[in-house]
Amino acid sequence: MLSRERVPADMIVGDTDDLPSNESTATPFAAVLEERLSRRGMLGLGVAATALGVFGGFRARTAAAAEAEIPASSLTFKEVPHLLDETMHAPEGYEAQVLIRWGDAVLPGAPAFDPLKQTAEAQAKQFGYNNDMIAWFPLPYGSKTADHGLLAINHEYTDPHIMFPGFADEKAAYKDTTKEQVEVELAAHGISVIEVKREGDAWSVVPDSKYARRINLLNSETLLSGPVAGNDKVKTSADPSGTKVIGTINNCAGGWTPWGTYLSGEENFHQYFSGATDAPIHTRYGVKGKPEYPSWGAHVDRFDVTKEPNEPNRYGWVLEVDPYDPEATPKKRTALGHFKHENATSALTADGRLAVYSGDDERFEYVYRFVTKGKVNMEDRKANADLLDEGTLYVARFDADGTVTWMPLVFGEGPLTAENGFNSQADVLLETRRAADLLKPTPMDRPEDVETNPVTGKVYIALTKNDRRTPDQVDAANQRFNNVFGHIIEMVPPTVDGKVDHGADTYAWDIFIRGGNPGSKSAGAKFGPGTSPDGWFANPDNFVFDSQGRLWVLTDGFPDFDVADGLWCCDTEGPARGQTKHFFAVPKGAEMCGGAFNSDDTAIFLSIQHPAEDSMYDAPSTRWPDFKDDMPPRPAVVVVTKKGGGLIGA
Ligand code: FEO
Ligand code: CA
Ligand code: CA
Repeated sequence: MLSRERVPADMIVGDTDDLPSNESTATPFAAVLEERLSRRGMLGLGVAATALGVFGGFRARTAAAAEAEIPASSLTFKEVPHLLDETMHAPEGYEAQVLIRWGDAVLPGAPAFDPLKQTAEAQAKQFGYNNDMIAWFPLPYGSKTADHGLLAINHEYTDPHIMFPGFADEKAAYKDTTKEQVEVELAAHGISVIEVKREGDAWSVVPDSKYARRINLLNSETLLSGPVAGNDKVKTSADPSGTKVIGTINNCAGGWTPWGTYLSGEENFHQYFSGATDAPIHTRYGVKGKPEYPSWGAHVDRFDVTKEPNEPNRYGWVLEVDPYDPEATPKKRTALGHFKHENATSALTADGRLAVYSGDDERFEYVYRFVTKGKVNMEDRKANADLLDEGTLYVARFDADGTVTWMPLVFGEGPLTAENGFNSQADVLLETRRAADLLKPTPMDRPEDVETNPVTGKVYIALTKNDRRTPDQVDAANQRFNNVFGHIIEMVPPTVDGKVDHGADTYAWDIFIRGGNPGSKSAGAKFGPGTSPDGWFANPDNFVFDSQGRLWVLTDGFPDFDVADGLWCCDTEGPARGQTKHFFAVPKGAEMCGGAFNSDDTAIFLSIQHPAEDSMYDAPSTRWPDFKDDMPPRPAVVVVTKKGGGLIGA
């Protein structure tokens, strides 16, 4: 949904003169306009002289650089060009296969998908809408099997304007959906677990798998666990215990634990709730009576805060799901904090505890880390069952000297006392944002995914963009005002006894990449040496690492510059560090999400979310993936492999 933001016509991007670490200069004038001209020139849509001038200059510089020896990347595929059309694109020599689409069967007995006869009952057995985060779990548990496993997949949100026919426009679709349609939407949210296998070169979903699961927002039970469970502020008329929640909402990115469970971040929970109160626990999260989905509160009482004021407090957590046990009730781990969790990525501390990184995806929000009290037990999976219920939540401050400091959010410490309205750790967690504000962390340019490099232990943060940052708000970690391109921060935790310590109080940090066209001086972009005209990107959203420690970046927002969202990748060490290459492009209106390698990096699973979101059901901008007149565009998971086999990216 956030991808529908449009860049204002008078956009300006700039950065400061006194950056601690970076070389870029950016004139605060119409950088993006230049980008647009450059793109349009490439696509042959006019504005020829200026555009070709910019573009030609970059080609010439690139050619000169080639002669001056471009550092060789370990990634050897031929790049996909920057483009924007109705279908998906993988590099020559690779194959992209649709694995499962919205409406395909997940549970036994699921009826065939009929877009004109959608029911909540059918949808609850079918693959949900807007597949996002994907995680790979090999079968059996504990193995490194590469051709047989489980995929756990989030379904972030619904797009009624392209799910249902007959609405005049987008606004009407969100306002006038019927109760039956709202219930389809509820059933289309949540999580799917599917079993997949490879035979020959072809991947497929195993039908009627004993692991198959749909967790939905209509009638699945989830539990609140940890310090907030049972708190008065999470009790409702349907759940006086304050522990049993219906389902999970706006599941965006996530992560997994070393003991093989799936972590799912509940992100923009606020946008579903009608009604308003003036309580900070609502207003600080945007529950302000202006929902994106007004028909939900009109048809379902729990989405109207004037009727159920505590219902929003039950979403905005990290949910832990055991994909290997379809009977296990998923638990919301409240110790990890209450905010718009983009993700939840785990890594070990030097002494064997678990750290979980999470971005709070909104302009000027923060980056968080949770560290468990207990140690991970790799000998006994069950011993970790409630490890995530006890520990310390931290929020990050990025200083200009290159230090990031993790500040603990602990009741009774510093300002987190009764004087400021906090009477327990549960209070601190329920109002994580307001508690964090008091510690003065660094407000970031929309912190999305945070991922750890499995080889180096360095930690990367995707900052998608922030077009509201003003010149007087730039700082060392968010260097450009009107940051329409986004950037990537690299953090380096210290090493203790030969182990990278994800529990340390301070790390080092620097800017790794600044998005935008490096051929445009005014963009202030930063990429590695030798990045090609197709290799740069804007709006980094999610990350996945391959087992060689190469970073794969998924974007959300590049169509604002007339380039399809997609997947770019680069070495993170060595001479070609940061030299990004374009691997995959999504169809019109879609966003690139997910991203999971199988156990030996010979397949990558990708989510193509909301194809044709820029249009209506009755006149979609693409009918990907079916391209049939009677079938709407359908979000889907695709699997990309190398023809004849081999490592992805090589
Ligand atoms: Fe669901 Fe932050 O994107
Ligand atoms: Ca995201
Ligand atoms: Ca996304």
